[in-house]
Amino acid sequence: MKRSEEFLERRNKVVPRGIGTFNPATAISASNATIINADGEELIDFVGGIGVLNAGHCPESVIEAICQQARTLMHTCFHIATYEPYLELCEKLAALFPHGDNTKVMLTNTGAESVENAIKIARQATGRSAVIAFTGAFHGRSMMAMTLTSKVAYKVGCGPYAPEVYRMPYPNFYKNNQGLEEDAFVERELYRFRKALHQMIDPSQVAAVIIEPIQGEGGFVVCPKGYLQGLREICNEFGILLIIDEVQSGFCRTGKWAAYEHYDVTPDISTWAKSMGSGMPIGAVIGKAELMDAALPGTIGGTYLGNPVCCAAALATIKFMEENNLNQRGVEVGEKCLQTFTKMQEKYPDTIGDVRGIGAMIAFELVHEGDSTRPNSELCAKLLANCAKRNLIIISAGTYKNVIRILSPLTIPDELLEKGLSIIEEELEKLMVTSAV
Ligand SMILES: Cc1ncc(COP(=O)(O)O)c(C=O)c1O
Repeated sequence: MKRSEEFLERRNKVVPRGIGTFNPATAISASNATIINADGEELIDFVGGIGVLNAGHCPESVIEAICQQARTLMHTCFHIATYEPYLELCEKLAALFPHGDNTKVMLTNTGAESVENAIKIARQATGRSAVIAFTGAFHGRSMMAMTLTSKVAYKVGCGPYAPEVYRMPYPNFYKNNQGLEEDAFVERELYRFRKALHQMIDPSQVAAVIIEPIQGEGGFVVCPKGYLQGLREICNEFGILLIIDEVQSGFCRTGKWAAYEHYDVTPDISTWAKSMGSGMPIGAVIGKAELMDAALPGTIGGTYLGNPVCCAAALATIKFMEENNLNQRGVEVGEKCLQTFTKMQEKYPDTIGDVRGIGAMIAFELVHEGDSTRPNSELCAKLLANCAKRNLIIISAGTYKNVIRILSPLTIPDELLEKGLSIIEEELEKLMVTSAV
C-alpha cells in the first residue's frame, strides 16, 4: 500500500467524516507553491491552504520569527500580561487599514472568531440586534458565523441557528442580471435592499450588514462597485454599521491589501484571518476606535487570541509581503490565470459560463449549454479529480460546487503557475473530447 493510501485509511478510522476531505492530497513538507506528499511526489499547490498562503509555504523569514519568538515568550494570555508583538501587530494593522481617523484592532485566532466578535462589537456599539447577511455568503462555522453563512451544505442539521439574522440576495450579476446592464442591475438590487428595510426588518433594529466584497466559498462572485458604494450610503443613512469580511480576499490576494480598496469604500468594521499569519492561527477585527471601544471589558477576548508566536508570524508575513511587493505579484498571477481561462472560455463558451475575479482571486464557472442557471457540478468534480491525478491540488467553490477557483501562493514561480494552468486546460480538453458533459 502506498503511504498516501495508508494516511487516508488511518484518517478514515480516527477522524470523523464531518471534517470534509475536499482533496485526496497528503503532505509531508512544503515550500513556496510545492507540497511533497506522503509518497515523496511533488504537488503543485493551487489552494494555498484555502487562501492562507499568499506568502507561500514556509517563508524563511516567517520561520525565523516564529522560532525566535517561541524561544522568548510563547504565551501569557493578553488579558494577563501585555506583550509587545501584540501591540506592534495592532499598530501595523491600524496603519495598513485605517477605518477613519482613529482605528483600533482586536486580534483573534480564526476567521469565524473575527466574524463573531465583529457582530458582538456592532451590537454593543449600536444597541441594536439584527444583522443582514447575503445569499451565497460564507463567514465560518461557529454558531453565529454559520448562521450568517448561506452555503446550506455547510450548515445542514446544525440548527437552531442564531436569531435576528436576515438575508438579502447577493448582487450576483452573472446569475441574476436578466439582461440588464450593470448600472441598471445595481440600481434594482439597491432598490430591493431599501425595500427590505420596510418589508423585512426596520432599519432602526439593524446593527450591521456583513458582506464579502468578493465571495470566497460562494464562488468568487464579485460585488459590483456601485452596489457596495450604494450599500455604504444606505448604512450611513440609517446608522447601520458596514462590516466587510476580508478573511479570504485580504492581504494581497486581489492585488491590494484589502479588496474594499478597489471600491473606494471604507467599512466601519472589517474581519481578517487566513493569509495574515502564513498558516499560524491568527485573525483580526479592525474598526473605528469609538465602535471598537463600545464593547465592554470582558465581552470580547479569549485565552489564546493574539498569541505572541502568531503575532510574530503575522508581523513577519506582512513584512515579507511589503518587501516582495506581493500586491503587484497578485496582479501578475491574476493576469496569467485570466488569460488562460478566457482562452478556454472562447473555445468552450457553452461549458465555461463565466470567468471572473479581481487580482489573483480568479475563477471560472462550469455550466450546461451556456445557461447560468444550470450548474455543471459533475464536470467540475471530474476536472478536479483528473487534476489531482496529475499532482495539481485545486478545489471548487460555489453553492453548487461548479466553480474552479485559484488560491495559489502569490509567490508561485511563473513556470509552476503555467504548468498548473496547462494541466487544467489539458484536462478540460480531454473531458470535452471524451464525454458529453
Ligand atoms: C470570507 C470568509 N469569512 C470567514 C471564514 C471563516 O474562517 P475560518 O475558517 O478561519 O474560521 C472564511 C473561511 O473560508 C471565509 O472565506
